[in-house]
Amino acid sequence: MQVQDLDREVSTKSSIADLVTNTDKQAEQTIKEDILTNFPDHGILAEESGVTASDSAYQWVIDPLDGTTNFVHGLAPFCVSIALMKDNEPLLSVVSELPAGNLFWAVRDEGAYCNGEPIHVATTKTIADALLITGFAYDHDAKWETNMNLFKEFTHVSHGVRRLGSAAADLCYVACGKADGFWEIGLHPWDSAAGILLVKESGGKVSRLDGKVFSIHDQQLLATNGHLHQEMLEKTAPAIASIAGSD
Ligand code: IPD
Ligand code: CA
Ligand code: CA
Repeated sequence: MQVQDLDREVSTKSSIADLVTNTDKQAEQTIKEDILTNFPDHGILAEESGVTASDSAYQWVIDPLDGTTNFVHGLAPFCVSIALMKDNEPLLSVVSELPAGNLFWAVRDEGAYCNGEPIHVATTKTIADALLITGFAYDHDAKWETNMNLFKEFTHVSHGVRRLGSAAADLCYVACGKADGFWEIGLHPWDSAAGILLVKESGGKVSRLDGKVFSIHDQQLLATNGHLHQEMLEKTAPAIASIAGSD
């Protein structure tokens, strides 16, 4: 089946902008069935159906369609994003970027690849020479306002800030050097789990917006080519400190 022929019948979740389609649900079901056929004792955390409990050290974290809003409107990019966690750290990850058809994957300590070729972060040294990406969660709360302000601040001092609509794709673009840094406030584990391994394995750096170690259960994420990390933290850390409950 071609991407354009997939089911786009849409309903809303937490707000008028938080969309889900039959394709999200069907893709998740298919991915879960494949995983549990091959690894029946593994755990799963999937966006649309939640947790499949397990005592295993292995857990698959699945976003069956990251960028659903783009998908509904026929705008690129949107992705399937899957990470295998071992002891709560990504061990391997796969992101299928659609409709471009690029397949990104990474294995812990073994590098990051796109369509079979090794990928590396960009060498951009300063924000003044950088292209940045951000995203916005569906709740229009204090975190959202704070991120709007960061969007303005970074736009003013960089080559620009893009909002592309798929956190998994955003992280792939940092990993392969198309962008230099990505941040967001309000992420879920399935948005970040696969992409952060791609960034790390391509030579980049990942942390929370306050500089602390990032776990996929943190909502706030900064992922950069490494060179920009400290300079970006100088803006993101005070911003995140200004809002309560931003973890
Ligand atoms: C969303 C996308 C978007 C990001 C949101 C996510 P979804 O995921 O990744 O870029 O800004 O925070 O929720 O809902 O399309 O799977
Ligand atoms: Ca998502
Ligand atoms: Ca999704």
